[in-house]
Amino acid sequence: MSRVKEGDYQALREEVKKVLKQPEYDDGSAGPVFVRSLRLAWHASGNFSLVEHNGGSNGAGMRYPPESVDPANAGLHHAISFLIPIQAANPWISHADLWTLAGTTAIQAMGGPEIPWQPGRSDYDSAEAAEEHRGVVGDRLPDGALGASHVREVFTRMGFSDREIVALSGAHALGRCHRDRSGFDGPWVVNPTRFSNQYFKLLLRPIWKPREWDGPFQYEATVAGTKLMMLPTDMALVEDAGFKPWVEKYAADQDLFFKDFSMAFGKLIELGVDRDDTGFARLVKKSAEQGKP
Ligand code: HEM
Repeated sequence: MSRVKEGDYQALREEVKKVLKQPEYDDGSAGPVFVRSLRLAWHASGNFSLVEHNGGSNGAGMRYPPESVDPANAGLHHAISFLIPIQAANPWISHADLWTLAGTTAIQAMGGPEIPWQPGRSDYDSAEAAEEHRGVVGDRLPDGALGASHVREVFTRMGFSDREIVALSGAHALGRCHRDRSGFDGPWVVNPTRFSNQYFKLLLRPIWKPREWDGPFQYEATVAGTKLMMLPTDMALVEDAGFKPWVEKYAADQDLFFKDFSMAFGKLIELGVDRDDTGFARLVKKSAEQGKP
């Protein structure tokens, strides 16, 4: 990996694009790594609580226990290992900035929208990470086996509306479930390395049947010769009266989906990032110390 000039984030994006090409991995193209990077951005950011004002992407706490060993984060070590060479060559960028930069770069490289991103996150050391996330990580990430009220509860806690929840869920146009990670199995769409509104189009088709197998409950359908899947939380988006109109809008209008996804994902990667007047992000302190927001 090349060392780039400190603060040259565009050059760093190019470095990220280079590691997106991993022909040996998962779907055998740049896509799988992109998916990794996207999922990394979500997991680095996704365990934030507005109420308790901790978690979030600042600090990059998932490099350390308890997040690094949380079952919901299984498989993310691949993403970390793909980014290690970039981090090693460019120690000036924080892990938290690099992971979120990688996620946004990957989305765009896969044909998705540009996502607003700014640097300034700082990293925790292992003690800070343990303190920050003590006992709460597992409860905060969504459980794919559950329904609409769970999805709404998890994302409302992070400050997202129904519209934003549905937009963010469109990220499942990318990548796949892995038996050895979540227990679920398969991709959501036929081309899981291309960012699109296919996920919403497929959700609305009356093709989904419970899969009969020894794994956790999930839905399946065969489209163009490819076995696809939906989680119970995915199907919840068409079963719920608040979510469904947005699924229909995004299925009909990819530009609207891209626009809404960009804003919602941009918001996701800012969760827990407490910027001062200069835009530099301070580490978020425990709620007990700083009081409830
Ligand atoms: C993969 C659940 C929301 C992006 C997965 C997997 C599960 C899951 C079970 C499979 C993990 C594996 O076996 O490797 C959920 C649930 C959500 C949710 C229950 C909310 C209700 C999101 C959001 C994003 C996202 C908001 C991003 C904005 C992804 C991506 C993958 C994935 C890109 C593919 C990972 C890969 O190919 O390795 N999700 N997710 N998910 N999720 Fe989500």
